[in-house]
Amino acid sequence: MKNDSALGDMSFEEFKKSSNEVSEWINNYLNNIEKYPVLSPVKPGDIINSLPADPPAEGTSVESILNDLNDKIIPGITHWNHPAFMAYFNSTSSSPGMLAEFIIAALNINGMLWRTSPAATELEIVVLRWLRKMTGLDDSFEGIIYDTASVSSMHAIAAARERTGYNIRLKGMSGRKDLPLLRLYCSEFAHSSIEKGAITLGIGIDGVRKIGVDKEFRMDTALLRKAIKEDKKIGYLPFCAVATIGTTSVTSIDPVSDIAEICKENNMWLHVDAAYAGNAAVLPELKWIMDGTEKADSIVINPHKWMFTPIDFSAFFIKDKDILRESFSLIPEYLRTEDNSAENFMDYGIQLGRRFRSLKLWFIIRYFGVEGIISRIRENIRLAKEFEKWIDSSSEFVKMAPVYFGTVCFRAVKEGLNIDDLNRMNEKLMHEINATGKIFISHTKLDDYFILRVVTSGLRTEEKHTALAEDILTQKYKEVFS
Ligand SMILES: Cc1ncc(COP(=O)(O)O)c(C=O)c1O
Repeated sequence: MKNDSALGDMSFEEFKKSSNEVSEWINNYLNNIEKYPVLSPVKPGDIINSLPADPPAEGTSVESILNDLNDKIIPGITHWNHPAFMAYFNSTSSSPGMLAEFIIAALNINGMLWRTSPAATELEIVVLRWLRKMTGLDDSFEGIIYDTASVSSMHAIAAARERTGYNIRLKGMSGRKDLPLLRLYCSEFAHSSIEKGAITLGIGIDGVRKIGVDKEFRMDTALLRKAIKEDKKIGYLPFCAVATIGTTSVTSIDPVSDIAEICKENNMWLHVDAAYAGNAAVLPELKWIMDGTEKADSIVINPHKWMFTPIDFSAFFIKDKDILRESFSLIPEYLRTEDNSAENFMDYGIQLGRRFRSLKLWFIIRYFGVEGIISRIRENIRLAKEFEKWIDSSSEFVKMAPVYFGTVCFRAVKEGLNIDDLNRMNEKLMHEINATGKIFISHTKLDDYFILRVVTSGLRTEEKHTALAEDILTQKYKEVFS
């Protein structure tokens, strides 16, 4: 069906009708989400081949676009909002977050300067102060929202690099004889985004030294001390360490307080990556996971990972916001404003244009309330602990790491098989499980073992879904290992 608008936007009448259709579509989608295969079964190129090579010359109705969405796009969707999406860190979005996204698009503000929407800047400040309080972070941290934890950590490393005093912002790094090689430290279990930050900032992958871990996969601080000493001896400048609260593979928690002491002794920046697990610090019983962060220079927490916020939303907290501004602020004439009393968030990073992300978390915190968020995250953790008990009681599977949050790491075992065969069969088991379309799990490697991960931190995940995971694991184990 052709639409009749020749100029301007959709008419108000049509928008009203179409927004009702879209809202109906979302309701149906979420209501029936369990009918879809969690992991999209399409092959590479399937979606491209199902779509016309040329753009349509004439416009069409929203109804017909929604039909094509159902027929051509949805088959290529992996359903992150599915309650049995148990892979990676399963970011799920909540309805209040979705409603906020709708309004964000309607307002379409660009929060680059305070005056380009004062409420965007000021709500960002307020919402991040709320999040700081909720997670028990020290009051001396000030917040800023970026899109992802990768970008937040990159900004932390940039601030650390600036603090070396070598004026890299102005002079760059290449060809400088006065600049020692910079070295950053993180554990073997740190997220790959730390190395990507180092790549981006000219530190290079060789500028990142990975430190070994103890039996519970926490950074070994004796090894950190030794590494810094060795590096200093051969002329490196140790400038930054990254501690992780909730590593991606196994959710281990680095000894932040001890690492902070080492950073202080060596005049190094300490950044804490709490992208996933930091959200769990809203629980009174888990406040301890933030111990030591009061001594850090910066920390990242991603509400899009576990505070039911539609992707993207990464909360970056830093104590010395000025050093971030000094690293990035560059004000061309066309962006100059007279009012110096207000914050212009474009000054604190590489991007100029900024979405109104704070509105999402504001909606979510307002709608659920802090207590509502606590009870939901607590339930996610309870499900993980129940699943852990099931693993512990089974003779086919063994747990591979302590369970602190909503993530359980384990592998299938069978007597008489060597490690290579076991790894091959665990991988096969995972593929067979995911091919059922009923649940979606992911993997990692630990001490050369192929490990399965089940994550229960989805907003819609219930006991029946972890029970389903147990049934499928049992059944597929029999098929693969028989
Ligand atoms: C601990 C940790 N840090 C950083 C990231 C990167 O997150 P993002 O996708 O927001 O860049 C992840 C992703 O899972 C993570 O687990």
